This record gives sequence, C-alpha cells and structure tokens, in this order.
Amino acid sequence: MSGINYSEKIPNNVNLSEDRTLQRALEHWQPNYLSWWQDMGPDGSQNFDVYLRTAVSVDPQGWAQFGHVKMPDYRWGIFLNPAEADRKIHFGDHLGEAAWQDVPGEHRANLRRIIVTQGDTEPASVEQQRHLGLTCPSQYDLRNLFQVNVEEGRHLWAMVYLLHKYFGRDGREEAEALLERRSGQEDNPRILEAFNEKTPDWLSFFMFTYFTDRDGKFQLCALAESAFDPLARTTKFMLTEEAHHMFVGESGVSRVIQRTVDMMNQLKTDDVTKLRAAGVIDLPTIQRYLNFHFSVTIDLFGADQSSNAATFYSSGLKGRYEEGKRTDDHVLKGQTYKVLEVSNGRLHEKEVPMLNALNEVLRDDYITDSKGGVERWNRVIEKAGIPCRLTVPHKAFHRNIGALAGAKVSPDGRVISDAEWNAKVNDWLPTGEDRAYVASLMGRVVEPGKFANWIAPPVMGINRQPVDFDYVRFN
Ligand SMILES: [Fe+2]
Ligand SMILES: [Fe+2]
Repeated sequence: MSGINYSEKIPNNVNLSEDRTLQRALEHWQPNYLSWWQDMGPDGSQNFDVYLRTAVSVDPQGWAQFGHVKMPDYRWGIFLNPAEADRKIHFGDHLGEAAWQDVPGEHRANLRRIIVTQGDTEPASVEQQRHLGLTCPSQYDLRNLFQVNVEEGRHLWAMVYLLHKYFGRDGREEAEALLERRSGQEDNPRILEAFNEKTPDWLSFFMFTYFTDRDGKFQLCALAESAFDPLARTTKFMLTEEAHHMFVGESGVSRVIQRTVDMMNQLKTDDVTKLRAAGVIDLPTIQRYLNFHFSVTIDLFGADQSSNAATFYSSGLKGRYEEGKRTDDHVLKGQTYKVLEVSNGRLHEKEVPMLNALNEVLRDDYITDSKGGVERWNRVIEKAGIPCRLTVPHKAFHRNIGALAGAKVSPDGRVISDAEWNAKVNDWLPTGEDRAYVASLMGRVVEPGKFANWIAPPVMGINRQPVDFDYVRFN
C-alpha cells in the first residue's frame, strides 16, 4: 500500500488505474495544471535541472529520492498515508463511530468548503513566490525555493484528488476554479487574505515559510484528525512535506541574523545606517518583518468566536491540534475558553463556550509553537554577545479579523490611541523605506558555494551534499 506507482501518468498509491472514470477526470485536469505551472510557476525556470526530492513511498523513513529534474517534469502525484484498520472517530458528536470512507450527505457542503479553502492556499503561495528565483541569494536557496514550490503544487494535487473522487461534478468545477483564481488579482483573488499579499523579497519568503507554512501545519494537523478518513490520510502525508518548508524559513531567518550579528561585531556597532551601508539587514528591520508576518498569519485562523468552527468540530470534520493526545472528553459541550476583547480602552479576557472558540484554541497552539523558533533565533544573537532580542508581538497587535479587528494595540499588548499608533507604527511594521532597502539587497547569486552578502551560508547542504554542490543546473 505504501509503494508508489510511478509507471502511470499520474503517480499514486491509491490504485488509480482501478477507477477509470476518476483516472480520466484527473488526466483531463493534469494538462490544465501544467499550463497553470507554465504561467504561474517559478519565473524563467522551465529548463533548469533542479536537485529535488520526490516521494517514492509514504513510509516515515526513506520516502524521499533526490535527483536533478526539470520542474515541469516533476512527478506530481497522489499519495495518502496507509489506512489505519478500524479507525474510529475520536471527537465530536460521532465519537466512537467508524471513520467515514465516503462523504456523508449532510456534511458535503462543509467538507467541500474546507478542502477548497485548504487547496486554494497551495497554488497561491507558488504564485506569491514566482519572481523570487530572479533574486536568489545562492544556488542552495534557489533549490529550496523550488522544492517548496513543487511540493505546494503536489499539495494542490492532494486536494484536487479528494474533490474529483468524492464530490462529483461540483468537485471537478472546484478543481478548475483552483487553477483560475490568482494571488492578489482584483477580480478573482485567492480565498484567504494572507495569500493575496506579495512575497517581494527573500526576507519575506523566509518569514512566510516560517510563519505562514506553519499555519499550514496547524490546519493540516486539525484536518489529519478528521472523521473523513481520506482527508485525514492525505493531510498526514502533506505534513511530512510541510516540515521542510518550515525548516527553510527558520534556517533562512537564522542565517540572515547570523550575518547581521557578525557584521555588528566586526564593525562594533548597532547603528542602523552603518549596518545598512555594510549591506546587512539590521535587527529592528527583521523585528518589523516578524511583526508583520506573525500578525497577518494569525488572522488566518479566523474569527475568535465562530459557529462554523463549532459545527466543524462537533460534526467531526476538523479536530484540534493533537486531538488524540488531549485528555478531556473530546466533545467539549459546556466547557469554556478565554478570548480577548477591547472594552473601556483595555484588553479583557472573556469566557465563551469552547466549541465556539476553537479557532482561538488553534491560534493559541500555533502561537506557542511559533515562539520556539524565535527563541532559537535569539540564541544566535545571544551567542554573538549582543544584548538585543526578537519578540513575538502580542496576539492583539495589528489584527484584521474577529473581535480584535482594527483595534490599536502595541506589540507589548497595550490598547493605545490612534495618535500613538500613528506615531509609532513605523517602528513596528515594515516601512516603505525598509522594504526598499531589503529590495535593494536582492541581487542574483548563483555561483556554486557563493552567497549574497546579507546572508550566512547554511551549516550543511541538502541530503548530505556539500554546500557548494550544483543544486541547480541552468543549461
Ligand atoms: Fe502546502
Ligand atoms: Fe508549505
């Protein structure tokens, strides 16, 4: 079951050839996907040979095979984790019943919506990142960008498979629409706001893969608990790919910081003007980028109180992060959770029914997880003997959804006046000048083993290859 059949047009481990109708439908979608990739995939890269990993089995060990491939020839396919025998639903109103192998009629619309919303983020990020190859800081980084891009493409395949197999004609229409929306396009944008933002430079890319791909991790973890077994199995395999994306982000930001603190020590200064003259990204700018990406990403979890979230949980469509490891009743009726609101010029905690607050529960789990990497970045600064520290802003800072939308809250969690916000926002969020400065550093470095001045080399190469390996052959 875990072996992947690469002899077929669409590699898969779901016995696709036994379902001719489905196979034909997907083979019909495939050329449209490829033309989307030609139009919206990495700019100018069609002919490059890229050292990529491809899944060859879904076993936790050894599923990856590495080799140079042209991205349009990447073997995008359909890979599900093996089925668990007699899997039971382990939360919500159907607790203890057998997991669903098909979509129950009463949950069809909600499940389709969940799958389409997840699926929409996958091609969106490829679109957001499509110009970054032109300004890569090294061949190693270029290869990582392309690896993330092809895997986001495969994640789209994962969702399209579910739409085609389980949702008939509407599913096929949704699968087409996933190739038609465009990140940032006014008349047909991607569904979620953060996926319509630009990823204009590599610092943004690393922040995006650290923070926003981590949102992906949490959404996928919640869906990996689903009563709808095919969704649980496909998201479990996606999670193994997602880990590399977050590694790219965490190690990328870490290397930017390393280079900056080395320069601070070399020049014995924390003066922003001097550091910029030396061509590195000052820590206050890194902090502002962090504030921006963190706040935009935590909006993705949705409104802090949501009846949809309650319905999705109670009906078994979407669980909590690590649902199986929790020791409560997994039904949550009558339980409460604290959410924040602004009243009388202050932030207050308010107890609300937990079922309605499940977006907030997931957001809080996400926040805890994302702090870990920031602490590891701080160790780089600490090791260099520099007293400054990066911080994750308060969760009420710069929010645009739910009860906190539009509230003026400082990064340390004080409700402030419009006047104070306006006076300080340039210290807290990237300014046009910051973005222009970071953009000015983005030149293309592709000589093997060479790195742009603003970023340190990685400690190790990919798949035990040397750092100066030819990760991309430009032909
Ligand atoms: Fe993804
Ligand atoms: Fe990702």
